[in-house]
Amino acid sequence: MTTEPDTHPQATGAGGPPPGDDRENDSFSAGLNLKGSLREAMSAPPTVYEIVGGQRFFDDLVDRFYDAVEEDPLLRPMYPRDMGPSRRRLAGFLAQYWGGPPHYSEERGHPRLRMRHFPFAIGQAERDAWMAHMTASLDAATIVDGTGRPLPAEIRAAMFDHFDNAATHLINQPSA
Ligand code: HEM
Repeated sequence: MTTEPDTHPQATGAGGPPPGDDRENDSFSAGLNLKGSLREAMSAPPTVYEIVGGQRFFDDLVDRFYDAVEEDPLLRPMYPRDMGPSRRRLAGFLAQYWGGPPHYSEERGHPRLRMRHFPFAIGQAERDAWMAHMTASLDAATIVDGTGRPLPAEIRAAMFDHFDNAATHLINQPSA
């Protein structure tokens, strides 16, 4: 039998993470830098992300889209059984693309969308089905600011073009 206290927690492990992180955040709101970035923030045009109402807009857009994908016999088999994480990834990607916080990249790294779609056989039919569901979701979209206003036409057109071009770019199978 041993009496050595080798199962005791090490003193260095007590007390949690070093205090550096929080302090760094606090120091961000001090001095001339704040004036500079405040001035910049006040004169910068709002991002699409801000205009449409932030993350909630993209969550709603993707929820309508994936609800339709879940019922689509051509597309559904490509996706995992639990589509919760898929919803979160696409909504995070789109929010970041349109000027929101970089949560997608923090979690997933560089999008590398073509590479990430290689495991799925995407021909013209799959691309068109994907676009049909996304177009329907865009058509139903409203700004998330409590007014329920429809999406401004120029923002809808820019989003449509992005989806349309990206979806074509992701085709990796010759048409049947
Ligand atoms: C052309 C038709 C398309 C098909 C059939 C398709 C299918 C898929 C599938 C099966 C997945 C894996 C589901 C998951 O676990 O997340 C996926 C992931 C994803 N797709 Fe698509 N997709 C298409 C177009 C697009 C387009 C146009 C975009 C962007 C504008 C896009 C963005 C993404 C993103 C961000 C992910 C998650 C990537 C990751 O971080 O793993 N997809 N897609």
